[in-house]
Amino acid sequence: MARNVLFIPGDGIGPEVMGEARKVIEWLNAKRRTDIALTDAAMGLGEWKRTGSPMSDETIAAAKAADAVLFGAVGGDEEIPRKLRRERGLLALRRAMGLYANLRPVRAYEGLLDASSLKERVVRGVDMVVLRELSSGVYFGEPRGIETLPNGKRRAVDTQSYTEEEIERVARDAFLLARSRRGLLASVEKSNVMETGRLWRDVVTAMHAEYPDVTLRHVLSDNFAMQLIREPRQFDVVVTDNLFGDLLSDASAMIAGSLGMLPSASLGTADASGRRPALYEPVHGSAPDIAGKGIANPIAAILSVAMMLRHSFGLTADAELIEKAVEAALAEGARTADLYMQGGIQPLTTLGMGKAILAKLDTLAA
Ligand code: IPM
Ligand code: MG
Repeated sequence: MARNVLFIPGDGIGPEVMGEARKVIEWLNAKRRTDIALTDAAMGLGEWKRTGSPMSDETIAAAKAADAVLFGAVGGDEEIPRKLRRERGLLALRRAMGLYANLRPVRAYEGLLDASSLKERVVRGVDMVVLRELSSGVYFGEPRGIETLPNGKRRAVDTQSYTEEEIERVARDAFLLARSRRGLLASVEKSNVMETGRLWRDVVTAMHAEYPDVTLRHVLSDNFAMQLIREPRQFDVVVTDNLFGDLLSDASAMIAGSLGMLPSASLGTADASGRRPALYEPVHGSAPDIAGKGIANPIAAILSVAMMLRHSFGLTADAELIEKAVEAALAEGARTADLYMQGGIQPLTTLGMGKAILAKLDTLAA
């Protein structure tokens, strides 16, 4: 039976990088019989200009019905009224699909150590996953808004809110993920100041009794930010809230060398048949400044395909094949412009990087 994937390239560099992801899927279907059927859907600025809404009800329904969603990027869409963007944008899609667990793996590829802004001896061997809570916290908390006070000055309010259940479900995924890896879990919050942080620490501490084989560490978020740059190898799985996860995963990207390297998986609660709603997307955004130039790095999009194979379809060997192909292309010196270059090597285009990876897939599968 075909695996049904909703394919949403989006705005900016989204269509460019997703074009390369599509080629990898076509390769897999041809060479590995993965039987992935892509259905295209539009979202974002282009869709809003065409229809007056950045995302249709049909797209939301199709995303929920699909076995997985592959998503490029949206953004550069400030023309769209703010309310519409919130209700019909990426956050709304994440929420509608119930995607609460956002996995953002960070690896320092040996071939790419010189691309990091940190010293080689600091980043060599880093292999960690940031598990970001994605459906709650200050992104969705109420009340929120900007009001005008009697003195004529404005006041803005955001609300950070977490229920025990929301913390528990993401923490459970984190413990299980740590168990399948090196067994280390860092839980990051700000319990010395925030009430949500206190509850977060309480809940995670209580759950630890169910996972005694996992080594749990509580790390305050400011300290974590420092530790991440000081000695990132100490981390294996990191679980944190929506906003801290947003910040810390971007920061982690510099360990890998570029935001253009980081894929992600966003997962929801399994249904009766065990299928989890899932959306896979590069961590980077639509990068309007380089859109249309054909120079964006497609690796995050391609690695997001690998995450889909692993998490939604259990195709571990195929996922590894893609990861190995990326690694081999990098080892051979394939670089897009976002990856720091020494000695004036001509950077590859988006298409060029896609081609380099497909060539490695051919070699590895031969
Ligand atoms: C991300 C992005 C989004 C977020 C933006 C585009 C709303 O930064 O996926 O990390 O903040 O979640
Ligand atoms: Mg972000």
